[in-house]
Amino acid sequence: MARAALILLLAALCYADPLVFFKEGFSDGDAWTQRWVESKHNTDYGKFKLSAGKFYGDLEKDKGLQTSQDARFYAQSACFESFSNKDKTLVIQFTVKHEQNIDCGGGYVKLFPSGLDQKDMHGDSVYNIMFGPDICGPPTKRVHVIFNYNGKNLQINKDIRCKDDVYTHLYTLIVRPDNTYEVKIDNSKVESGNLEDDWDFLPSKKIKDPEAKKPDDWDERSKIDDPEDKKPEDWEKPEHVPDPDAKKPEDWDEEMDGEWEPPVIQNPEYKGEWKPHQIDNPDYKGKWVHPEIDNPEYTADANLYQYDSFGCIGLDLWQVKSGTIFDNLLLTDDEKFAEEYGNETWGVTKDAEKKMKEQQDEEERKKQEEEDDDAAQTKDEL
Ligand SMILES: *[C@@H]1O[C@H](CO)[C@@H](O)[C@H](O)[C@H]1NC(C)=O
Repeated sequence: MARAALILLLAALCYADPLVFFKEGFSDGDAWTQRWVESKHNTDYGKFKLSAGKFYGDLEKDKGLQTSQDARFYAQSACFESFSNKDKTLVIQFTVKHEQNIDCGGGYVKLFPSGLDQKDMHGDSVYNIMFGPDICGPPTKRVHVIFNYNGKNLQINKDIRCKDDVYTHLYTLIVRPDNTYEVKIDNSKVESGNLEDDWDFLPSKKIKDPEAKKPDDWDERSKIDDPEDKKPEDWEKPEHVPDPDAKKPEDWDEEMDGEWEPPVIQNPEYKGEWKPHQIDNPDYKGKWVHPEIDNPEYTADANLYQYDSFGCIGLDLWQVKSGTIFDNLLLTDDEKFAEEYGNETWGVTKDAEKKMKEQQDEEERKKQEEEDDDAAQTKDEL
């Protein structure tokens, strides 16, 4: 009895409830239009519509916001009760499906500080974090992870490839109060590390000592010419010589053909350019290494991860070919909970989605075959 109580107590201590700052699964029909606001900064933003797309795992669960007009900017945002991630883990997670086989367009979200003017949100609105896939032709297929730090947007220094197929994928960014981070795609880690190493938040810790100079007599040559070695006197021989076996043709006419000259051949005695032997340099000191000193410009910051407030999430992007569906957005402080939510959303519908797509492709293929057959028959009959 006591033991059971103790286990319960321990479980309660270890298991703080996850904080969910924002969760959006678009599962209540048109109600999302009350929660999301379109910017009026421009007059011709593309329209989002609620849709599960052409193929899906579950018609209801897979409904999300789909871009519906080609070659448009999109600008929608939703706000929530403001929070700071001070001393907390922050998980940003959502699903993206480029079912249109996207050529060029964004699939990322932006997290804004509280106080965002939603009606005026646009490409230059100040955000805290931008995260998610971006595709533009074959060269650009990357996951952005951008942090705003002291007014500058800093992109991750590592290249994280995004998914470029037509299926739904789960993107997760975890930022921890120990200044480490992790990026996951489909609930598997694709990148991780710490903020200071992988973004240019701070100037480098060490710099080359500006006072230090390589001494003039520092010898970096590991080998030198052997001073004892001399070119042999009989070394110099011409590279080409007249062919000793060549004979003037009998019908050679000096008057008509000019003076006869034998063809030249490679001289077998030619030795090439003479080079002295190499020996170890007794004065060799190795490569000179510029000594480093602490960078006076560097000041550590233990709170790179931290933002005073998060208040809104936005879809602020450009798409050439529309059709992308955003769904299952989640902001939480709990990595495990996010993983579970990913499993319960993307995880339970992904296989059925793929199956439906494959069936559609198969039917399409059959239809095409029949049409081709018909066309061939009509031709035969003519
Ligand atoms: C999510 O699903 C994967 C694969 O089935 C499983 O290994 C993992 O434990 C699940 N995570 C959670 C938090 O339930």
